Amino acid sequence: MDITFLLNGETVELTGVSPTATLLDWLREERHLRGTKEGCNEGDCGACTVMISDADGAKALNSCILFLPQLHGKAIRTVEGVGESDGALHPVQDAMIEHHGSQCGFCTPGFVMSMTAAHANGATNHDTQLAGNLCRCTGYAPIIRAAEACEDKPVPTWVNNDRAFVLPDTSETADDGPAHAPTSSDELAAVYAANPDATIIAGATDVGLWVTKQLRDLNSVIFLNRCDNLKSVEVTEANVRFGAMVDMNTVGDTLSDLHPSYAEMVRRYASVQVRHAATIGGNIANGSPIGDNPPALIALGATLHLRKGDTRRDVLLEDFFIDYGKQDRKPGEFVEAVSFPRQPDTLKCYKLSKRFDQDISAVCGCFSITVEGGTVTDARIAFGGMAGIPKRAASVEAALLGQPWTATTITTAKAMFDTDFTPLTDMRASAEYRLETARTLLERYFAESQGQTTNVLEVSA
Ligand SMILES: Cc1cc2nc3c(=O)[nH]c(=O)nc-3n(C[C@H](O)[C@H](O)[C@H](O)COP(=O)(O)OP(=O)(O)OC[C@H]3O[C@@H](n4cnc5c(N)ncnc54)[C@H](O)[C@@H]3O)c2cc1C
Ligand code: FES
Ligand code: FES
Repeated sequence: MDITFLLNGETVELTGVSPTATLLDWLREERHLRGTKEGCNEGDCGACTVMISDADGAKALNSCILFLPQLHGKAIRTVEGVGESDGALHPVQDAMIEHHGSQCGFCTPGFVMSMTAAHANGATNHDTQLAGNLCRCTGYAPIIRAAEACEDKPVPTWVNNDRAFVLPDTSETADDGPAHAPTSSDELAAVYAANPDATIIAGATDVGLWVTKQLRDLNSVIFLNRCDNLKSVEVTEANVRFGAMVDMNTVGDTLSDLHPSYAEMVRRYASVQVRHAATIGGNIANGSPIGDNPPALIALGATLHLRKGDTRRDVLLEDFFIDYGKQDRKPGEFVEAVSFPRQPDTLKCYKLSKRFDQDISAVCGCFSITVEGGTVTDARIAFGGMAGIPKRAASVEAALLGQPWTATTITTAKAMFDTDFTPLTDMRASAEYRLETARTLLERYFAESQGQTTNVLEVSA
């Protein structure tokens, strides 16, 4: 494929790039920019963090699971490019030195890049901004102190120059053999219908690992990153609708007022870097039983909008997941959007994982229960991690509906989890733990509805 981007202020035009070459490998092996480190090569450690800018702003991203074609039209900054041309360091570099934020130094370029992006955006929630960067020797306190120390320092001029980067007229963006880069949903529909065996690549936070960890060859690929009309967010009086390519940070920001518990769950979805790449469409289409969006969306009564060629159809999201690894999606059909009705906020999302940040859920329970005049009039409860698919707790819901909203009803309904779910034991949790916590989460929802404080945030930096 032919792609063009800005790298540390210099325009780079590449022809014939391998569609699944990662930015990290290219930086280190082709450009010999070895400040960007390889730690895990799967999005977990942040050692490979770079800053990617476009008209929407500056973002920290993990270069190990970014394929080069995803960078077309963007501006890339690596740790080699954050200082000034006269050799002066970036304020976060100065602060890291002053506050002793580095010992062996392996993690340091990644931290500097996350801090540089946060600084460019004026983001001062440092625990959140740095949750995707691991350091095993310095300890986080000096690093956080460094981030705080440069909050008010001026943002370098190159930040705006990067954001203003416009592709030169000459840049080639055409399809290349088995690699396709459609620029709209219509083009995608045509190319996917004609190539139903191709692998769709959205944010590549799953697909990236197929390449870097499973060493899979992806013969034919379709990149969605240029399909701007799949990135739209619509909030009307009736509905909330996310295009398939809306990233997880945008999902969280959009829902922070409408459904704050959903937004809080998103804050614990991976890390800032992964959330910038991961899309809501990818998180649904991958059919994972432990993806965080599906249970929340099912509890909100979401509808999935699918498209194949010129034919569109809608399915209830809960019906999309048929069995483990099996979804109601035909060859050549893709997720165009997901939507749910505007509704009073009764949603609570409880994500249980071994680590507070940057961890996949062992159990994710999402509850939306309506009580009118003391009686349960509507109950939508969905779980991830309890079955081979994201699944509603139909028997629990039935035990609640029409009943008084009391502790006695909760006790009766809790027993029905055994009817709804037969969870597995795996490395994340035992079957017993999963069932017991599911029951307890219903109790927790009830307690919170009675005004009891149940903030069980065990771990915080
Ligand atoms: C470090 C790390 C931490 C993570 N933490 C979490 C977490 O806390 N919670 C969680 O839920 N997930 C987590 N994930 C998993 C991952 O982020 C999600 O599954 C992600 O949402 C996938 O979206 P994507 O855009 O990256 O999809 P991709 O990797 O691009 O694609 C995923 C799959 O969906 C298909 N696909 C993508 N878009 C479409 C579409 N529009 N139509 C049809 N098919 C499509 C692809 O072909 C592929 O099969 C984590 C991943 C990493 C690497
Ligand atoms: S090398 Fe660990 S996140 Fe990329
Ligand atoms: S300074 Fe050694 S890993 Fe962070």
